This record gives sequence, C-alpha cells and structure tokens, in this order.
Amino acid sequence: MRLTTGAVALALALTAAPACADAPWMNPALSPDARADALEAKLDEAQKISLLHGRFALAAYYGAFAGDAPPSIPGAIGSSGYVPGIPALGIPALQETDGGLGVSDAMDEAWNTGATPLPANLALAASFDPALARATGDVAGQEAWRRGFNVLLAGGVNLTRDPRGGRNFEYLGEDPYLAGTLDGQLIAGIQAQHVVATLKHFAFNDKESNRYADDALIDEASARESDLLAFELAIEGGAPASVMCAYNLVNSAYACGNDHLLNDVLKHDWRYPGWVMSDWGAVHSAKDALAGLDQESGEDYDAQVFFGTPLADAVKTGEIPQARIDDMVHRILRSMFATGLFDHPPVKTPIDYQADGLAAQHEEEEGLVLMKNDNILPLTKDTPRIAVIGGYANVGVLSGGGSSQVIPDVPAQLLPTVFMGEGLAGNHTRAVIDPDAPLAAMRDLAPNAQFRFDPGNYPSAAAQTAKWADVVVIFARKWQTESQDVPDLTLPDGQDAMIEAVAKANPHTIVVLETGNPVQMPWLNDVAGVMEAWYPGGNGGHAIANILFGVVDPSGHLPMTFPRDETQLPRPILSGQDAAGQVTSTDYNIEGADVGYRWFAARGLSPLFPFGFGLSYTSFGFSHLVLSDQHGLTASFDVANTGKLPGAAVPQLYLTARNGAHTLRLVGFSRIPLAPGETQHVTLTIDPRLLADFDAKADDWQVAAGSYSLSLASSAADIDETGSISLPAARIAP
Ligand code: BGC
Repeated sequence: MRLTTGAVALALALTAAPACADAPWMNPALSPDARADALEAKLDEAQKISLLHGRFALAAYYGAFAGDAPPSIPGAIGSSGYVPGIPALGIPALQETDGGLGVSDAMDEAWNTGATPLPANLALAASFDPALARATGDVAGQEAWRRGFNVLLAGGVNLTRDPRGGRNFEYLGEDPYLAGTLDGQLIAGIQAQHVVATLKHFAFNDKESNRYADDALIDEASARESDLLAFELAIEGGAPASVMCAYNLVNSAYACGNDHLLNDVLKHDWRYPGWVMSDWGAVHSAKDALAGLDQESGEDYDAQVFFGTPLADAVKTGEIPQARIDDMVHRILRSMFATGLFDHPPVKTPIDYQADGLAAQHEEEEGLVLMKNDNILPLTKDTPRIAVIGGYANVGVLSGGGSSQVIPDVPAQLLPTVFMGEGLAGNHTRAVIDPDAPLAAMRDLAPNAQFRFDPGNYPSAAAQTAKWADVVVIFARKWQTESQDVPDLTLPDGQDAMIEAVAKANPHTIVVLETGNPVQMPWLNDVAGVMEAWYPGGNGGHAIANILFGVVDPSGHLPMTFPRDETQLPRPILSGQDAAGQVTSTDYNIEGADVGYRWFAARGLSPLFPFGFGLSYTSFGFSHLVLSDQHGLTASFDVANTGKLPGAAVPQLYLTARNGAHTLRLVGFSRIPLAPGETQHVTLTIDPRLLADFDAKADDWQVAAGSYSLSLASSAADIDETGSISLPAARIAP
C-alpha cells in the first residue's frame, strides 16, 4: 500500500513555517528563484555561512565505532550528512543519506530501520529502459522520504573506464548516452518524491585506487565527449538539485576546487542552477568557493571546517566576494524550493517493503543478462535432479560494499572479508548477503525436482554433487566495494577451479554470476549456460529463479564490454596502487573518448562479450532501417518477435562511419516488449551531439558536413542493417 503524502506534508510544512504574509518565500506560486531571493534577504551573514557546511551525521557513532545509541548531533537523524536548518525562517535541515541503490546503512547501526536493497545500477543500465530508471528512482526517493531524509546522495554516473573499478556496480556502465539518459530518469524519479538527488562524482572518479589523490588526465574534447557528456545528459534529463564533486584531481586541480570543471563547464556552459556539494573529505581550502564549490559536506573529514570561519574571514578580507557567498546560498535555497523541501517535508511513515521488493525484483528481471545458452535454458520444472552450488545460494544473493550498502529490513547475513581500507569507507569489512535465497525460489518453481546444495568450497565435493544431478546451477560471486579496486578480472577464492571441476563432472552446467564488474571465464567453453545477475537486490533469488525456469524472458544487455583479460585494457596495470598518500596520475588520454567498446573497436580487439550483448529465449528480427533528416535526424525500423515466446527486444543504433571513416558510438536504443509474431515500428531521434566532435577552442559541438552511416544492431559487435545519410554542417552550443 502506498500512502498519499502531499496533503499531510503540506499541512505540516505550513504550520511549521512562518505564515505567507511575513514569509513570501512560503508562497508556492512564486518561482524557486524568487522564493530564494525573498528568503535570502532575511538572512544575516552568520546564517548564510551556516548553510554552507555540514557534518558527517554519524561522526559521533563512527568515532566510538560501537554501541546502539543514536548519533549525538542534535537534530540529525543520523546518516551520511546533516546541515542544520534555520527553524525561525522555516528553512529545513538537510538530512542526507546515501545511496545509489536505496537508502543505505553502511554502518548497520542498530537504531537504523530497514530499506529495500535495489539491484546494482548495472542491472538498471542493462535494462536499457528509461521508464524502469524512473520507477527505480521513485522507489528510492519514496523510501528516503518516508525515513525522514530530504537528500539522497544518489545519481552516480561515472563511466566504466576500468572493469576493476570498485564502484562500477553503483554506476551505469561505459557508454555516456546510455548512462546519462538512464541516470536522468533515475534522478527525476527521486526528485518527484521531494527528495534532492545528487549527481556524482563530478568528475572522472572512475576508479578507487588512491582516490583521494589520483590525478585524472584527459584532454578537453575527449572529456566532453565521454564522462562529461554522461553528466550533461543526466542534468538535462533529471535536473538534479545538487552535484557532488569528486575526491580526485582532474587535470591537476582537485575536482572540488576545479574552476574549469565547476565554473566553466557546469555552471557556465551547462547553465546549471543547482548547488555543488563536496564529497566527504574532498575540500582543500576556503578558496574552493571561488572555483565553484557551494557547500562543504562531511566537514569532519576535512583538515578543518573550511566553509565555516575561514570562509567568513576570507569574505571580510575581500579574498572572496560577498556576491559569491550570496550565490552559494541562492543555489542551495532555490534548489530546495524547486524540489519541494519546504512544501513537502518528509513525514516518517511506514514503507511497503513488499511492493518495493517486487519493484526491485522487476528491475533485476529486466537487467539480468543471459550470455550463453547451449539449449539448456530455460530449465524444465520436471528436471528430476538439480544441483545448486556455491555463492551462498542457500542463503541469499551478494551485494556490493561501501557507502551505498543497504541493510535490508529482514536480517541479512554478514560475511567477514579481509578488507580493511582507509578513510570513510575503510570500515566496511563485511560483504552483505541479501536474504532472498535462489535455492528456495528454485525449489518453489520446481516442487517435484530433487535439489542438492553444495557450498562450492572444495572442487572435488562440488564435482561429486554435480555427478549426481541432471542439471547443475553454479552461483559464482565477486564482492566489490567503494574505496578499493580489484587487482584483476578473475573470480576469487578458487571459484574458477571449482567451476572447471564441476563442468568436467557434468557438462549440463549453468553459471550464474553475481559480480559488480566483468570477469574472465576460463571455463566458458565447458559450461552450457552463463548469466550475469550483477548484485541482484532484495528479491534477487526470485528474479534469478524466474529467469532460470523461463517464467520471465531474459532481456538484459551488457552495459559494459567483457574483456578477455587485462592485456586488452587501455591500462593493463591499474594506476594508483600502493600510492601511500602520494599524488599519482591516470592517463585517460590513452583511450580519450574511446571508452569501452569504442576502445575495442578502435584497436580491432575482440572482447569476450561485447557491449550491448544479451540473449533471450525468443528471437528478434530488426529490419527496414530508414534514416531521415526532416526535423533532426531520425532512424525508423521494424522490430519483430520471430520466436515462440513473449520477450523484450533491445534494438541499438550505432554511428558506424563518418565520411567513410569508421567509428562506433551508441546514438539510440529502445526496449520493446513483443508478443510472439508481433512487429512494432520504432522511430528514434538522434541527439546531434552524438554525431559531433567537441571543439575545445570554439567551445561547441561541431557536426561535419557529409555522409553518416548508422547501423541497427543487437550489440556493439552484431550489426543487422546499415543506412547512410548526408547531413549539413552544424554547430551546437555546449
Ligand atoms: C563517498 C560518497 C558518499 C559520501 C557520504 C564518500 O566517501 O564517495 O559517494 O556519498 O562518502 O557517505
């Protein structure tokens, strides 16, 4: 049951705040900017400064690192962040919570109530479904609001430039158009619940090794055409109230003190009206305000509270103009008004975990990717003997670690890991297993089958169980966490050897991967089926079982290339390892804007599985591609379900050549559910920036006149049909 919140909340807001006559900013008929102006006129300097910095709201608890008491910062609910409000003027406090995959509870505090663990955002990206992104944002935003939070630190869109990256599972893959489009919808969903979303981590925080001091080097045009394009599209699609700047340096200036990124790109070129908040411990000076930083978050992590007294002093000495302070405050207030923080403050209300769990399940069902199927799937319910091996499949499904960690409403299993890192996320020492066991869900779907479970710890024992069975389903897992990359693409803990031994004992073996990144598959030729379930979320066991048994057709498509091994990567050796506090650098100029599949195409490399790849239990045909340039470039084509089962097709459109020169860029996609035999005509409108080059000198996008080839495809490596069209030259403002 979902409760309607608007009326109750509005009443509460209006009683708590000053009446409209003396408080014109409480009049919702005025624009957010006008309301912010009216309110700011009432603030003295100390009140203004108080809005520009905030605490890590678990600081007290975290410091003690034990105990069940709620945090001792007065007024704070207790979570990632807290900026006190000004009650006399009706300004609500900012109660900030992570995270990107639902309301997080990284420290598993005893007083903290539950939340629905959503699947890794890679599952969302794999759905290629903007409507699903919007619905997912609705769930996350709604749960935050019902818990009393008005800021969700969610909306991460860093590109997968390295498949060893510790936080890739929180993001949306390697393609800027796919990631930016979906992230925009995710953000729109969160904010529709009157909760601020935070687009992060701006920018090039594409890996975790030495994340506090790694310098991302990249030329301007490549930056705009890759990671920055993902941020730009997410802002256009979702209008996030805030943007979080990253820990790392970008072209030798810290991201939170980066005048070019924050002032030139974000605020000038993109006309971003919201506020820039720092990552926790990412501020280096009060002067970062001049570079475009508007608010210091998690000040407990900085060397000092730079945006407190030092900032106020810098205004007094004239080092920082008063107008900058006023602008910082304006950006925060107008965004709070725009998102409804004054008019619809959170009301603590029960969460419908059942409905939200089903939403998480649906997300996983759309995002699970079937990668190999030698006529073994879907499983039939009358299979006599099924062996289930490994991955804690008798208990639940794996989730990723770090500040995005959700602890589900029902008790989860916490597994010790060997990791104890530095900084804020350094204490996340346990992998969390969400308690929806695939084994139980499989038993429910095949009540007459006999099941045996083996934990997969010993290859010989697992092989013995496999010999007994008609079909074997192995669950393989790889835990990843914020603040640590993995050294390579292998599965840990001897799982590859276990899979080899099982496949040798029984070739009717399917491997279900629960990973936050691509992995190598040395056993690929020896198994009959493979699926990538990512981190499957709170109802993940049911989602996986439904796909194994064909209750749901698999329709996910890889949002990142699966390399054969690290030698195919732009940087076979991960930079920034063992840096011990030194500034290191990562040269993204090696691949520039050729991220992921574009790197593979440019180098003529053949991956293990290409971007966009995903199988189904039915089959699809794409045909009759027609390109037209009447009102902007459009591509129309037919999509048919040529098989015997209902399913969803994911046609992809790539730019494959410009004036005869080969290139590869995703410029359009769709997700079309189709009944068997059904055909739908689809028209996609192409964003001209995806055809253009960014001209750093002219500071605009330039489409060269000439011939453009676009290909209709089922992955970056499987082209069905190509058409060409001649386009006039065009320039597009950034
Ligand atoms: C992470 C952010 C997070 C913040 C607050 C930082 O360490 O990088 O993503 O929002 O902590 O928990």
